[in-house]
Amino acid sequence: MSFIQVRNLSHGYTAGGLFSKRHRIQVLSSLDLDLHEGQSLGLLGGSGSGKSTLARLLMGLENADQGSIAFNGQTLQGLDPKFLQRVQMVFQDALSAFNPQRTIGWSIAEPLRHLSDMPVDACKARVEQLLVQVKLLASDHDKLPSQLSGGQLQRAGIARAMAVGPQLIILDEALSNLDRVLQVQILDLLADVRRTSGTGFLLITHDLSLVQRFCQRVVVLAEGRLVEDREVTPHMRFEHPAARTLQAAVLPAMPKAPVALALA
Ligand SMILES: Nc1ncnc2c1ncn2[C@@H]1O[C@H](COP(=O)(O)OP(=O)(O)OP(=O)(O)O)[C@@H](O)[C@H]1O
Ligand SMILES: [Mg+2]
Repeated sequence: MSFIQVRNLSHGYTAGGLFSKRHRIQVLSSLDLDLHEGQSLGLLGGSGSGKSTLARLLMGLENADQGSIAFNGQTLQGLDPKFLQRVQMVFQDALSAFNPQRTIGWSIAEPLRHLSDMPVDACKARVEQLLVQVKLLASDHDKLPSQLSGGQLQRAGIARAMAVGPQLIILDEALSNLDRVLQVQILDLLADVRRTSGTGFLLITHDLSLVQRFCQRVVVLAEGRLVEDREVTPHMRFEHPAARTLQAAVLPAMPKAPVALALA
């Protein structure tokens, strides 16, 4: 069943000004999309195709020029706290997503303080439970962001997104700065979260192999429109040329023999 309904969504920006004529860039055009409860949906698209724009609209961080986004039939308008409780986002740059002056525990508890009326002690216990769930230590609660590695910090970002038990977590290139081993570990961890708590995910990425590991369904954005919407299968083939280009960019599996030997 769909719990987010995007209908006829169009959005753009005004560019130019000081040195060039002001003009409008149309980023999304008449887009329709249904997000289903507890599903992991991959959102693929070339750089500048509008993936992050769509994510910001879904979060209510910007208002669309045209069209609507509804949550269980109720239209989203601006930053509705009830909506924020249900949709959380993890960004690519983990370090800048944390306040350098505050402990990790303080930052993870931030959505709990704003969006729930949980008492302080219960908040601390919840944060420690979340830290363990993302394979960090409960004692990381008191560390500063600068004391964690990039991968640890990204997991802390995921813990923060999970804090209020959202129905959807948007991962906007959130795994792009991590090595392959860590990407796979985090995706498997999120697959567990999906199975146990029914949280749905929107995985925004350029990397089709991550989509194939984690998602049940994939959509491809090109020229402001969704040009593909299909079930993820091991041998799926896209039809639209822009989607085929993304598919062609998946690196083949590493050769089994060491590269130097293979070249000799
Ligand atoms: N605040 C803004 N003002 C003006 N133009 C913007 C703004 N935000 C995005 N754009 C433009 O909108 C287009 C889509 O940007 P967006 O960030 O959504 O792309 P993306 O698909 O997320 O790209 P990437 O894969 O590189 O992150 C780009 O051409 C971008 O320059
Ligand atoms: Mg982006």
